[in-house]
Amino acid sequence: MRIDILTLFPEIVLAPLGESMMKRAQEAGLVEIKAHNLRDWASGKHRKTDDYLCGGGQGMLLKPEPIFAAIEELRGASTKVVLLTPQGRVFKQKLACELSQEEHLIFLCGHYEGVDQRVVDELVDLELSIGDYVLTNGALAAAVVTDAIVRLLPGALGDARSAVDESFSDPQRLEAPAYTKPVEFRGMRVPEVFLSGHHAKIEVWKREQALRRTRENRPDLLEGS
Ligand code: ADE
Repeated sequence: MRIDILTLFPEIVLAPLGESMMKRAQEAGLVEIKAHNLRDWASGKHRKTDDYLCGGGQGMLLKPEPIFAAIEELRGASTKVVLLTPQGRVFKQKLACELSQEEHLIFLCGHYEGVDQRVVDELVDLELSIGDYVLTNGALAAAVVTDAIVRLLPGALGDARSAVDESFSDPQRLEAPAYTKPVEFRGMRVPEVFLSGHHAKIEVWKREQALRRTRENRPDLLEGS
């Protein structure tokens, strides 16, 4: 898989994707990730990438010319172009799974008030938001989405089971609480069921606790079930 990230702030994206599992996935050749500075496709002495809104109004918008030039250069026959924007469809685990099947993704990071609509109409296949809040630009969102996708690539997780058991693999349940050693810490004991060695009982306990946690933290997930 190849991921190209088009942003005014490549450093914001590169730091989180250069560590830990993201770093190992790239070293293992599972994914090639490149962050590009949109300014490299801007023309003129000042390499201007933004401009005032047509019809007036507060703020600036990313201009279409550098974005068209960049995407036309970077895209291939099987590229999906994704715009990160609070106006997009909300990113969920199911979509992460779907996007992990793609051969080539270009993430276009919005900035200021966003991008000229002609970019969306002509170049963008999917508008994506990582949640109902507004970031200063889409670069952090691109890093979040990239991380969620790359860890799903076969071979990226050390233990293949961890992608199956975790929260949102079942989109209607969060994960159950988990414990490690020591068995007793500051008077708090690991629940006895874990010490019983009885796997069926442990599974029942986990299901009950997953449901309790979902009810408390994310009742909205249960509404559909
Ligand atoms: N850019 C600014 N806010 C965003 C969000 N919530 N999701 C994706 N891109 C963004």
